[in-house]
Amino acid sequence: MSLPEPLAEDIRAAMDSFGGARPAMLESLRLIQHAEGWVSDARLAEVAELLGVTPAELDNLATFYSMIFRRPVGETVILLCDGASCWLNGADAVRDAVMARLGIGFGETTGDGKYTLINCACLGGCDHAPAAAVGRDRRLVGPLAPEDLAPLLEAAP
Ligand code: FES
Repeated sequence: MSLPEPLAEDIRAAMDSFGGARPAMLESLRLIQHAEGWVSDARLAEVAELLGVTPAELDNLATFYSMIFRRPVGETVILLCDGASCWLNGADAVRDAVMARLGIGFGETTGDGKYTLINCACLGGCDHAPAAAVGRDRRLVGPLAPEDLAPLLEAAP
C-alpha cells in the first residue's frame, strides 16, 4: 500500500493551511478516513512519514477521538451519544433497543457489514436528545425513541 498522490497532495495542502505538520495531524486522519472509511496501520505509518511525526504520535491522536476509526467499519457507522442530555432523555433505552435490533454491542459491526455501533460523547445536538450521528456525513438524528428506530437505521450513509 502506498499513499495515493491525491491524498498526499491534500495532506500537504492541510499542512500549508494549518501552519505545519502537527496542526494538520487530525485533518490528515480525517482526510484518510473520508477517502477510505477508516485508518489502517499501514496508512497511518505513511501519513506519519509524510507529516514527519512518529506513527505512535499519530496513533495517540487517532485513538483519542472516537470518530477516527482504527478498525474497518460497516457501511453505516452509528455514533450513539451517551452524553448527559441524551442520558437524561432516555439514551439507555435507545441503546438497548439498537443493540437488540442489530445484535451487536459498542465497537462491533453487524455480520452483513452494514452497521457499526459506537458510543460517543456529546454530539452538540442536545436539543435532539437522545441523539445519534449517522453515516459518512454524520447526520444528526433525534430525538430517538426505542420503539421507533427507523430514523436511525434508515439514515443514508
Ligand atoms: S448529550 Fe447527546 S447530543 Fe449532547
